[in-house]
Amino acid sequence: MLSSKVLNHFENKVIWITGASSGIGRALVIALSNIQCRLFITSRSSEKLQETFEQCENKNNIEIVAGDLTSKDTNQEIIETINKKANRLDIAILNAGNCEYVDIDNFDSELFYRQMNTNFMSMVYGIEAGLPLLKKSDSAQLVGMSSTAAYLGLPRSEAYGATKAAIRNMFAALRISLQPQNIQASVICPGFVETELTAKNDFDMPALISAARSAEYILSGIAANKQEIHFPKRFSLTLKFIASLPNPILSKLLAKTILRK
Ligand SMILES: NC(=O)c1ccc[n+]([C@@H]2O[C@H](COP(=O)([O-])OP(=O)(O)OC[C@H]3O[C@@H](n4cnc5c(N)ncnc54)[C@H](OP(=O)(O)O)[C@@H]3O)[C@@H](O)[C@H]2O)c1
Repeated sequence: MLSSKVLNHFENKVIWITGASSGIGRALVIALSNIQCRLFITSRSSEKLQETFEQCENKNNIEIVAGDLTSKDTNQEIIETINKKANRLDIAILNAGNCEYVDIDNFDSELFYRQMNTNFMSMVYGIEAGLPLLKKSDSAQLVGMSSTAAYLGLPRSEAYGATKAAIRNMFAALRISLQPQNIQASVICPGFVETELTAKNDFDMPALISAARSAEYILSGIAANKQEIHFPKRFSLTLKFIASLPNPILSKLLAKTILRK
């Protein structure tokens, strides 16, 4: 359950959520739909965004702006739509992404390209398009979806982990460089969340949580203007500790890693 203090933070805000057609993004939309705010929701599939819309009790404040975010032009068009309809943007939650694991016996640069394009470049295009509109807000927040996979190099996660580490690194810098423009930047590093993305995983997922629970962690973190919103703590703090171990110990440990089949 979200506290009224957290809910109040989102009152009357104009919010753009990407990757809203399933999983964590959909859970964020459902959680925010009961609050008096204005939601613009994006993913490629209009049909699945419509399903998100149908699952919300209060539909008055939700507008679907579908599009493929790997296109720079599409990001600009979406922001133009938000500008025309709301004339500002208070919070951008850039959550869209997917996960492809590397088969080390078939090392494929195309897979790396797809992962960088979908997870990293789409976010860069979203930031480029969104910043001028965020500057119109007197309480702007830019939020990017990374992962606890960013903390260390996990076998099979060479591409996905690299995209998420790039995002985490970019947001650490943005947190500082956007201060003079009064835009707060936060990055999200979830552990395992039950979604379509993780349904494909063929290994045990410790500390798996529901998408609804992840939305609570994320919204509480945004309301508190956390630099890094990481959860669940029992998983994210363990991973941070493992990542801090000396390299020889770390390598031995990761050779038996959780991502192995
Ligand atoms: N689930 C986890 O355990 C976990 C952990 C750490 C981080 N994350 C991150 O959380 C984010 C959401 O993941 P999820 O678990 O909720 O997965 P999901 O259920 O598969 O949702 C991914 C969302 O991204 C959208 N998307 C993908 N490619 C897109 C594109 N090119 N343009 C626009 N939208 C696109 C998808 O919609 P369309 O297919 O309709 O485009 C969908 O709405 C991802 O960035 C993921 O890496 C997830």
